[in-house]
Amino acid sequence: MADEPLVLGIETSCDETGIGIVRGTTLLADAVASSVDEHARFGGVVPEVASRAHLEAMVPTVRRALADAGVTMNDIDAIAVTSGPGLAGALLVGVAAAKGYAVALDKPLYGVNHLASHVCVDQLEHGKLPEPCMALLVSGGHSSLLLVPDITADVRPLGSTIDDAAGEAFDKVARVLGLGFPGGPAIDRWAEAGDRKAIAFPRGLTGPRDAPFDFSFSGLKTSVARWVEARERAGESVPIADVAASFQEAVVDVLTRKAIRACKENGVEHLMMGGGVSANSRLRALAQERCDAAGIVLRVPRPGLCTDNGAMVAALGAELVARDRAPSTLSIPADSSMPVTVTQAAS
Ligand code: KG4
Ligand code: ZN
Repeated sequence: MADEPLVLGIETSCDETGIGIVRGTTLLADAVASSVDEHARFGGVVPEVASRAHLEAMVPTVRRALADAGVTMNDIDAIAVTSGPGLAGALLVGVAAAKGYAVALDKPLYGVNHLASHVCVDQLEHGKLPEPCMALLVSGGHSSLLLVPDITADVRPLGSTIDDAAGEAFDKVARVLGLGFPGGPAIDRWAEAGDRKAIAFPRGLTGPRDAPFDFSFSGLKTSVARWVEARERAGESVPIADVAASFQEAVVDVLTRKAIRACKENGVEHLMMGGGVSANSRLRALAQERCDAAGIVLRVPRPGLCTDNGAMVAALGAELVARDRAPSTLSIPADSSMPVTVTQAAS
């Protein structure tokens, strides 16, 4: 609908400069410039390198998004930006740019939570998010199960990782296997040719006395490293595809099992998955299988919208506008440890 507000979203919490433009729940542009190649040789994201890359990519990426959407800056009704959580210096570049655009255009500014944005992005593909819904958020920095009665104002964490995030485990295991950075996509590809039952890796926090909705991936990561080391010490070759497939199965088995249980125990009929790890092909397949068996409707955005992007920020900004939430003030900070319960920065 042409009378819905046109929102530009800016995402710079990690190594992707993402600029998205949406009208209501319609995606018009999703331009992403990634500095991932600059970090690959360090085996992880270097904050200072990421911040500089955002600064260089910001204006060209905004221009690309405007051109893709076929609109001009003057058509934009509101600016949304990730105000946290994430890398402080990286966030700062996006927040500063957003404030600059908001002041120059005299348009409202919405500082939004990166994690809530990962959930809200699904609206761009599958229409309005059913509320309440359960969200399994799995990325490089977070692994959480969230009960979402209202994506703009009420997000309740049921559990989260007590050590490594799921994506972090993928990245670390990929390093052990010499598959480069980021590790998730590489493990996903190698696992296709492997046997997921080849090695019985441990399923963390799945005992009867364990917290039902918390996750732990650190023991699994160590177990994979020990297994690979033992092989190498014995002078045997490492079956990379089998290790990748068995490790991946251990992660996605736990994630899906706990997510389904969370839905059932809370009487929630819709499960949403978001964050970079939800791009994983086996996670998507197993989640679908288990949701079908449990009578739960699964919603997962296409892989390109699971990893960090600006469209997700614009999506949450547009939802805040649609629900008449007050804009954020121009003094919002870049909040590197913004809690998931705070969906919008100070209004
Ligand atoms: O959401 P995201 O792009 O950034 C954060 O907010 O952290 O997630 C990045 C994480 C990385 O750890 C990456 O290895 C993982 O998502 N990832 C994957 C896949 N694609 C990205 N993990 C498993 N399988 C994939 N296909
Ligand atoms: Zn993310």
